[in-house]
Amino acid sequence: MANMKSLVALVNRIERFCRALGEDGDAILPTLLEPLPSIAVVGPQSSGKSSVLCSILGHDLLPRGSGIVTRRPLELQLHKIEEGLQEYAEFLHLPNTRFTDFSMVRKEIEDETDKTTPTSNQISPVPTHLTIYSPNEGQPESFVRDIESMILSYIEKPNCIILAITPANQDIANSAAIKVSRKVDRAGVRTYGVLTKFDLMNRGKIVLSGRSCGLRNPWVGIVNCSHEDINSNVDMIAARQREREFFATIPDYAHLASMMGSEHLAWLLSKYLEDWIIVNRIPAIQSFIDRSIRELRAEWLCTTVPSDAGARQLAQLLEDAQLLEEDSVLTARRQGCAERLE
Ligand code: GDP
Ligand code: NA
Ligand code: MG
Repeated sequence: MANMKSLVALVNRIERFCRALGEDGDAILPTLLEPLPSIAVVGPQSSGKSSVLCSILGHDLLPRGSGIVTRRPLELQLHKIEEGLQEYAEFLHLPNTRFTDFSMVRKEIEDETDKTTPTSNQISPVPTHLTIYSPNEGQPESFVRDIESMILSYIEKPNCIILAITPANQDIANSAAIKVSRKVDRAGVRTYGVLTKFDLMNRGKIVLSGRSCGLRNPWVGIVNCSHEDINSNVDMIAARQREREFFATIPDYAHLASMMGSEHLAWLLSKYLEDWIIVNRIPAIQSFIDRSIRELRAEWLCTTVPSDAGARQLAQLLEDAQLLEEDSVLTARRQGCAERLE
């Protein structure tokens, strides 16, 4: 049972059961409804964030109907305007509205997210496009600060997994994404360093330990679709296949092949979610089931003829409890998981 699908199925089954129990089930519902970890993709413009997201979503990683928090990528462009003019922002979807108040920009981003993903367990890979017009040389200070604080507000949540996207053909030691992630994940336990554009990097022996950047997990190298691939509509399956071949056939990388690529990254994320559920959900569910069984048995002893519904509920509870108790793999893994997630 120690795989993601059966865990999610179990959690869903228990949720349905708790709802059927009514008041008695209320004790466990807050645990079940607390959102699963979210995934934030962080990195500079055109570092490959959207590509990584597409690749991961293409793999059907995310359990449906389990309340993963929705986010959309934000595409930000900066344009310089004449000195003395006021800084403003515009959305592609609202071409005639000039925003001068960033709190309204943030609200618009949130409203747009809600619009494209009406239920809270959907993810949209469709970016929101925002353009900032500013007279300042370089980057408009206040907006950049506000955007950073917006990013931080997502990634500071302890149950947010951070994908720190870093192009492999740039200076990895100075990764902007790692700098941001370290502000909220000092120990580097919930950050995965992702090296995109591996195909554009100078080839040679590389060290993929994340330790020098404060990461507990090694870097994961990725080869996404290039601009040309996208134009010629290379499909995700073919892209995956090519990515696999890339790592397997280049002699300098071949020994690392099993730890590289979009599929490995998707696997790491799904493993993280699985561990998280085992540590954060299962114990409460287990003790709830143990307790309920005791209570239901006591109740049954006082009633002469149990109702059909009651009998079905008890049978279901026993089955769930049995599942959890018999799962020694689960029990053994819990300790290891707790340590990894600490
Ligand atoms: P974002 O701005 O961070 O979301 O970056 P995108 O995902 O939109 O990628 C920006 C550009 O880089 C696109 O043209 C992609 O095709 C290209 N790109 C992204 N990842 C890779 C990669 O691994 N290899 C190559 N060759 N191009 C990539
Ligand atoms: Na881009
Ligand atoms: Mg993007």
